Amino acid sequence: MSTSAASAGTLAANAELRPAQFQEIAAIMQREARIHLVEAKTTLVHSRLSRRLREHGLTSFADYVSLVQRDAQERHAMVVALTTNHTHFFREAHHFDHLRSHVLPQLQERARRGEKVRIWSAGCSSGEEVYTIAMCLAGESPASAAWLDKGDVRLLATDISPPVVQAVSQATYPDSAVEPIPAGYRQRWLKPAGTGYHVIAEPLRKLVAARVLNLFDQWPMRQKYDVIFCRNVMIYFDDTAKAELEARLVDMLQPGGTLYIGHSERLIGPAATRMKPVAQTAYARIDGAGAA
Ligand SMILES: C[S@@+](CC[C@H](N)C(=O)[O-])C[C@H]1O[C@@H](n2cnc3c(N)ncnc32)[C@H](O)[C@@H]1O
Repeated sequence: MSTSAASAGTLAANAELRPAQFQEIAAIMQREARIHLVEAKTTLVHSRLSRRLREHGLTSFADYVSLVQRDAQERHAMVVALTTNHTHFFREAHHFDHLRSHVLPQLQERARRGEKVRIWSAGCSSGEEVYTIAMCLAGESPASAAWLDKGDVRLLATDISPPVVQAVSQATYPDSAVEPIPAGYRQRWLKPAGTGYHVIAEPLRKLVAARVLNLFDQWPMRQKYDVIFCRNVMIYFDDTAKAELEARLVDMLQPGGTLYIGHSERLIGPAATRMKPVAQTAYARIDGAGAA
């Protein structure tokens, strides 16, 4: 790094983020992604956006705010920089136990009857969630996975952030990330991919389509879903946005379909009356409850 680039970096890191600038940034996040930023997040916003300032050679947040106000591309880059993508394989493992023991037999029956099976990981981050689902559907042997080949089974993984959606498509994870995967699944579905990395095996990868999608934009999907995972995503939204999203997710479920949400999340809007709890933070759509 040149001396002037290094000093621009230091200036960006030292730039003050004033309350009015924070409010401007929060308003843009609300408008663009419905992400609700509270002032307690000022330090986080400062550290994540310092890099954006550096990339543009800016030394003040006032200049950065002017840039995002006039430049749609940078606005999007800011949204991506401010999303939290923390995830891991088999996160909240009780959901996958429920999926295997209660939902999987129904999905297999649907597939056996020649019906489509559709599962959506909404707010998928880098794909650990959708590939965990795929492993649970496939089991630990070629015999237990055979129904996936015979049936019409597809998994959709969507996120607002293009880099994480690309990571889903690459399906390559560091060894430390694959460690929590139970050994039977790991041996069957993870292949070494260079030093320190593993890649998800092709039979599971080909089930998954990864797409960029802002959950508050129009959804291009036409079909309904048997299962939706939307976990640890709604925590970033305010109550109005949560209620709106819940209703749209419930509309997208098949009657009887299952919605899994994050451990600290609750259904808070009118959509809750169209769902019945079936396990911890897992809900089934009550038949005929769809508005759509
Ligand atoms: C903490 S991660 C959760 C990942 C995974 N579902 C899990 O529980 O491990 C939250 C994800 O939601 C995405 N996200 C936030 N706001 C979004 C929006 N408006 N539309 C789509 N995705 C969004 C973020 O980019 C991030 O990858």
